[in-house]
Amino acid sequence: MQPKIKLSGINIRKKQVFFDQILIKTLTSRFESPFFIFSQKRLIDNYQLFYKAFNQYYRNTGIYYSIKTNYETKILKTLLDLNASTEAASYLEILLAEKAGFRGQQIILDGPAWTDEDIANAIKKNIKTFNVDSVDELIRLNTIAKRINKRVRISFRIFPEIKMSILKSFIEGYIAKFGVPISRAVDSYRIAKGMSHIEPIAISTHIGSMITDPSYYEKAVDRLIQLASILKSELNINIEEINIGGGYGIQSLNYYSLQNVILEKAGISNYSKAAPIEDFGKRIANRFKNQVDKYNLGNLKLILEPGRFIVSDTGILVTKVVAVKDKWIFIDGGINLIPESIFFIRRGFIVANKINSRTNHKYNIAGPSLNTADVLAVDQKMPKMEVGDVVIVLDAGAYSLSRSNQFTLLRPDALFITDKGQLTYLRKKESPSDILNKLL
Ligand SMILES: Cc1ncc(COP(=O)(O)O)c(C=O)c1O
Repeated sequence: MQPKIKLSGINIRKKQVFFDQILIKTLTSRFESPFFIFSQKRLIDNYQLFYKAFNQYYRNTGIYYSIKTNYETKILKTLLDLNASTEAASYLEILLAEKAGFRGQQIILDGPAWTDEDIANAIKKNIKTFNVDSVDELIRLNTIAKRINKRVRISFRIFPEIKMSILKSFIEGYIAKFGVPISRAVDSYRIAKGMSHIEPIAISTHIGSMITDPSYYEKAVDRLIQLASILKSELNINIEEINIGGGYGIQSLNYYSLQNVILEKAGISNYSKAAPIEDFGKRIANRFKNQVDKYNLGNLKLILEPGRFIVSDTGILVTKVVAVKDKWIFIDGGINLIPESIFFIRRGFIVANKINSRTNHKYNIAGPSLNTADVLAVDQKMPKMEVGDVVIVLDAGAYSLSRSNQFTLLRPDALFITDKGQLTYLRKKESPSDILNKLL
């Protein structure tokens, strides 16, 4: 099936493949394969779509883009110009946000494993809110804040213990390592309230990634708002913000769940697609508003930390076929550049130089490394493939560059098309000396 074509980013016109207004063919002759290419216009469109989906139903909404998803400076700068704030998961990410122009008050800090040095640095940067992962971390935060003589505003990351699908609940076992279980939340806030340099003002959570069904968020909203009400009545804590994290699924990616693997093996393929973002926005924001009214909590702020939705289809990876062997084709970019496992995510592919050929063959698409897991797709319907064919990997904008590594190969160029249509660089490719000079 051809992927859904939008107005910016990847598009096919007059039997040719474009990214924004630029013909892919003109790029493959100019730049060494593989390369990433990103669209500023698609990024702006995605952000505005996301913002509107929530804001039209609940005005007091703040978007804190999750830096780890893609931290390239031009991406962050574009989002800053759109009035976004950010969620950082490490001190490095605070520095990356600063490089793009964000101030401390536009950054929320997350993460389960801060060092004392990270905490001190973040306090000095005047970070807006610390999403604290445990009481242990809270105690260290208070000690360091006291030493620096600053009060810090915190939320606890709460694990809301919502039942999900078979595979999601399997992953949930791992997600439980983050945050405080909701059953221990009131005790944790009580401890925070008694601390000299801590001000508990928010509740946060993050329930997973590529969530396809808005109802999980509705359940999380119910639990967190009820918690805010209990904190008010039992501890006299005034919660100002509820942060429901990221995870909003996107429609151009298929979530490859265990259930779907079984259905496919049985010959009944049924990949679950994410709900449209308009449904996420409408259902979550309306639920939030109703619950806030029900518990009489005033003008509580709704914080969202999207990552994938904002950047996934802003980027593609343009590769070439370097080997063909029976059912296998090998392209020159793989798990080193897009490390997310195919067991969770199914991407789309376009063979740019054979756009009009019938897709009457099935191939497994492998990346270039000697790693058994370096497989991007299985049984992908494609035209007859040859060495030199140009394979575009779609939805390569999230968790790609930021998670890329140098397993046997160097990182390639990443290009950027501005909203005015100008072609520039997001980052330049590495050279062997970038690696060799660091080895002592
Ligand atoms: C705390 C937190 N917020 C937001 C995100 C962004 O999630 P997504 O890219 O699925 O929207 C993540 C991703 O892991 C996260 O850990």
